[in-house]
Amino acid sequence: MNDMSDPRAGFTNMTEGKSEDYQIIVDHFKSYSKQLPDRILDHMQLLKGDFGGFPIDRLEHSLQTATRAHKDGQDEEYVVTALLHDIGDTLGTFNHADIGAAILKPFVSPKLHWILETHGVFQGYYFFHHIGLDRDMREKYRGHEYFEDCAHFCEAYDQAAFDKSYESAPLEFFEPMVRRVMASPKQSIYVTE
Ligand SMILES: [Fe+2]
Ligand SMILES: [Fe+2]
Repeated sequence: MNDMSDPRAGFTNMTEGKSEDYQIIVDHFKSYSKQLPDRILDHMQLLKGDFGGFPIDRLEHSLQTATRAHKDGQDEEYVVTALLHDIGDTLGTFNHADIGAAILKPFVSPKLHWILETHGVFQGYYFFHHIGLDRDMREKYRGHEYFEDCAHFCEAYDQAAFDKSYESAPLEFFEPMVRRVMASPKQSIYVTE
């Protein structure tokens, strides 16, 4: 957390920035970036009570998706992907899949990133025909190396995670996994090789 006594950079325009200014900023970034899992877990709580007409709220849907993946023997990166796959519902109302994909991009494999990014289209196979859309929209990805992986994510976990009577693990159960997966980015413009 910042307070008034925190050291601050002295520039008004970045063109005036000095290395010592950026040392202050980098020091802040180090602790701020370590708190990313806390911000993610806090944000997940915003999905609580948000039903959107579905039988269970979006937090419970997320927990149920992750629990199903975990019980099915998926690894930790996959389970965290399942947990956060709809985290974008709050701010990405018209493109929620992009938000979760962007948040996890530094931390997960290209395959899991692709599943996150395209799951909205694949999930449509289960309901688009009920709302005047094309349930076969996913066919545009047919032949892609991760097509079957995304189809499996939706079939086995995402579309199946609306069961009111299912006993999901609580968010606390997944917390250490979120912390481990997000402990250090595999790729980021702010991290050198
Ligand atoms: Fe989704
Ligand atoms: Fe979902």
